[in-house]
Amino acid sequence: MEQRAQWGTRTGFILAAVGSAVGLGNIWRFPYVAYENGGGAFFIPYLFALLTAGIPILIMEFTIGQKYRGSAPLSFFRMEGRKAEWLGWWGIFVSFVISTYYAVIIAWAMKYTVYSIRLAWGEDTKSFLFGDVLQVVETPGQIGGFVPGVVLPLLAVWVVAFIILFSGVKRGIELANRIFIPTLVIVFLIVVLRAVTLDGALLGLDAFFKPDLSKLWNPTVWVAAYGHIFFSLSIAFAIMITYSSYLPKKSDITNNAFITGFANSGFELLAGIGVFAALGFMATQANMSVAEVADAGVGLAFVVFPAIINQMPGMNGVFGALFFLSLVLAGFTSLISIAETYIAGVSDKFNISRSKSVVIGVGLSALVSMLYATRGGLYFLDAADYFINQFGVAAIGLIEVFLMAWVFRKLDLFQKHANAISDIRIGTWWKVCLRFVTPLVLGYMMFGLLKTNILKTHEKNNGNYEGYSDLFIWTNGWSVAIFALVMAIIFTLLKWKKNIVEVSDYDES
Ligand code: ALA
Repeated sequence: MEQRAQWGTRTGFILAAVGSAVGLGNIWRFPYVAYENGGGAFFIPYLFALLTAGIPILIMEFTIGQKYRGSAPLSFFRMEGRKAEWLGWWGIFVSFVISTYYAVIIAWAMKYTVYSIRLAWGEDTKSFLFGDVLQVVETPGQIGGFVPGVVLPLLAVWVVAFIILFSGVKRGIELANRIFIPTLVIVFLIVVLRAVTLDGALLGLDAFFKPDLSKLWNPTVWVAAYGHIFFSLSIAFAIMITYSSYLPKKSDITNNAFITGFANSGFELLAGIGVFAALGFMATQANMSVAEVADAGVGLAFVVFPAIINQMPGMNGVFGALFFLSLVLAGFTSLISIAETYIAGVSDKFNISRSKSVVIGVGLSALVSMLYATRGGLYFLDAADYFINQFGVAAIGLIEVFLMAWVFRKLDLFQKHANAISDIRIGTWWKVCLRFVTPLVLGYMMFGLLKTNILKTHEKNNGNYEGYSDLFIWTNGWSVAIFALVMAIIFTLLKWKKNIVEVSDYDES
């Protein structure tokens, strides 16, 4: 039997976990989510979500992986048999979907790193993105053929991911994170330092931090905080269970979880400061308010930022290249962690070598990701991202916590395991969060989300998410979320190809 892979050092594991957590979500999702949901006041629900759900679930997932020493399905299978295994596969298929579009965003960022050097986007950065680069079709749902300018960098992303993953846990993933994460921190610090010294930066920071306390009464703000924490911390989609399964038998769990959680939030805060300082600069130049220049997601990074870069007083190209390079670096370390979930899962279940599993896993996801490199890709990406996050990641978070706390009643066992090997001991706080606070808040949130999406009460015209047609929402939104769950059940029903229960490398106590 192949010896189970292990991280080389504790730092190696922490860097990999932080590398997974710090990703596109931190740089382009967080600043806007925070701003839209009350600015400075958002930090209250954000910290609440981090301390009652984010870090407690991270500790739980680290414990599961470290204790049962398997990919997510194998760990759950060892814990409770098939009754729990499906949860691991659900996370894996959610990860599969995420990896297919995540890679595409990295590909765009790669293109923009190069474009930055000669400010290739010109004055009209919006037309450049949607017209020249993505060549977006008119109607959501149309495919419209491949965009070669996206296909090629996308292939490059997968080749790099393949090489890293193929090289193994220690010599591939750990090494890549050891190089990428310090580089990312340096590059991003330069970007933020430059941004906060721009004219008008304070105006942006004021908009970002000024608390709108009235928003705290709005439940959507709390939903936004929880939703963001899950994606940002890489919890509830099989990643952290997989990564911690490569920890040696006697290794810290709790402290590592705190370090990962706080490093991720620290980076996020830094990103918020950098992005809003730059927005303040742009607002000052254009004589507008920050609210008028701010934009969400794709628009923020690929439309607003190029416009900001155009107006910078000097070294524009360098600033632009460093900004997009940080997206690429942050994205890569997360992408490999997302892909590692299915590589480990398939290799465990079908008893095939890691190399074979990498070829199959990366090959399939690269193939599927090509859908997003078509002219209709942007709309497919948007719908898949929304539905897989709400009815994939957040739903798994809720069900995982509920099953562990109330059905399989594992919290005492996990607590004992974690406390025996960790620097920091967990007690009442941890159990109260997982038994009561998180299921209640997440349950309420899921109920609200289902209601909004089934009763179609989104703000946009026909009530669907982004005003997409019913057909489009069904074929590209709901179906994607349902696909992950159905595949999870199918894979659970397949037979294990090796006698994993007898494998002696995990501690059954
Ligand atoms: N945690 C990763 C991110 O924030 C997936 O992008």
